[in-house]
Amino acid sequence: MTTTITALRGTAILATALALPGCVAAQHAGHTPTLPGIPASIRAEHQEIHARLEAAMKTPGATGRAARELAAVLHPHFQREEQIALPPLGVLGPLARGEFSAGMRAVLPLTDSLRAELPRMLEEHVAIRAATARLGEAARKENQADAAELAEALALHAQGEEDVFYPAAVLVGDLIRAHP
Ligand SMILES: [Fe+2]
Ligand SMILES: [Fe+2]
Repeated sequence: MTTTITALRGTAILATALALPGCVAAQHAGHTPTLPGIPASIRAEHQEIHARLEAAMKTPGATGRAARELAAVLHPHFQREEQIALPPLGVLGPLARGEFSAGMRAVLPLTDSLRAELPRMLEEHVAIRAATARLGEAARKENQADAAELAEALALHAQGEEDVFYPAAVLVGDLIRAHP
């Protein structure tokens, strides 16, 4: 369990690092474009889920067990999401305002990876949904209101990603690539 918690913390740190104002540079020599940061609102949502899940993992009984099982499937998924799916959303605002800079092309390797990995990420959502449902069931049975609410919030989070975040990130890549 300690490993999982540590790993979750690592993911939160990664999320924070990717969201530093002014973007995190893809560190190569010369005028290498910088990667956009994860939008602060999305970063905050991920961090809140991490924090609430960590708390749920410490709950005794079936709720804690279900939370730890959920963390095992959620952690690698969140980590990959924070690497390739969420940073491209950092350029949505400028793109929507018609602003373009050559530096935005730095997201193309990310959006290409997202497009390629999307089927797997959606499969992971199926596993995450199942583990989330088990957490919700256990939490309701054991009157663990916080964990039950977390399960609802996480199910909604995954749905929001499928409906909006993932498609938007893929479209960011298409828009940038199509730019002359
Ligand atoms: Fe997520
Ligand atoms: Fe996700």
